[in-house]
Amino acid sequence: MDNIDMKQIQWFPGHMAKTRRLISANLKLVDAVAEVVDARVPLSSRNPEMDRMTTGKPRIIILNKCDLADEKATKKWIEYFSSFGITSLAVDCKSGKGLKSFIPSVKTKVLKELIDKRQKNGMTGTPLRLMIVGIPNVGKSSFINRLAGSKRAKVEDRPGVTRTKQWVKLDNNIELLDMPGVLWPKFEDQNVAIKLAFTGAVSDDILDIETLSMKLLVFLKENYPQSLKERYKIDYADGESGLDLLEKVGKKRGMMIAGGKINTERAGITVIDEFRSAKLGRITLELPEVNEK
Ligand code: G4P
Repeated sequence: MDNIDMKQIQWFPGHMAKTRRLISANLKLVDAVAEVVDARVPLSSRNPEMDRMTTGKPRIIILNKCDLADEKATKKWIEYFSSFGITSLAVDCKSGKGLKSFIPSVKTKVLKELIDKRQKNGMTGTPLRLMIVGIPNVGKSSFINRLAGSKRAKVEDRPGVTRTKQWVKLDNNIELLDMPGVLWPKFEDQNVAIKLAFTGAVSDDILDIETLSMKLLVFLKENYPQSLKERYKIDYADGESGLDLLEKVGKKRGMMIAGGKINTERAGITVIDEFRSAKLGRITLELPEVNEK
């Protein structure tokens, strides 16, 4: 596997300790954590320390951008998280699909115990507070804005806590804490970095676009051959490389340069763009590893 230029992402480590501190300092202010991930890469778009950082807090995983992900794969991910006792929910913050289930899921699953306890103690007026976390570009802001809609309003700063964070009040006595820190994915794993580069979550500069597109074409050949054939109308044999495929795409699209050569850079940009805009269909880049019993 090609080496990724780590220079591009070196600014992250500086933020890690700060974000870690922010999360642990604010965790006591909330009843649960909602972690927004990209449904196409539900593991790769998670912060590797999130489980440890939020130990003991009820959690819900928001599988956002489900409009771009493979529906069957999303179902598998929901079952997978559920096998660990974690509620997850597929949503599309672009259209708002799935968001109606968020508050009911919080109330009937994630925080049911707490709500029952409060009801017994006559504390039904106390708001339910959730911390919203997510690595950049998963759609955390879109999620909060969608839920809050035009009613988005800041709740006053609470004493003793950092000013930069924002409380967002929803109907139904729910308050969201929009954490300001930058969360990082598991960058040291190159497969993770590549998948995030496919989705556009990390800078395209970590790998040149041709290499990135060749890797994507090989992935598609192995996992979504139909999408590849339908979109580009190309035929290929089993052993063909990413470069072979890229050249076929370029040729089909008439992307030629002087001397009858194929403009693989243009072809690469096209493949990546068409993946990101779902023109290649709804594609999930990773599946849960399920141990056969
Ligand atoms: P962040 O706070 O986690 O960094 O993410 P943000 O909400 O800014 O969303 C990042 C990008 O993802 C935005 O696109 C946003 O529109 C898009 N997005 C968010 N949720 C969804 C979703 O459910 N489905 C799809 N298809 N896209 C989603 P952008 O290109 O940066 O901006 P724009 O297209 O909104 O102009």
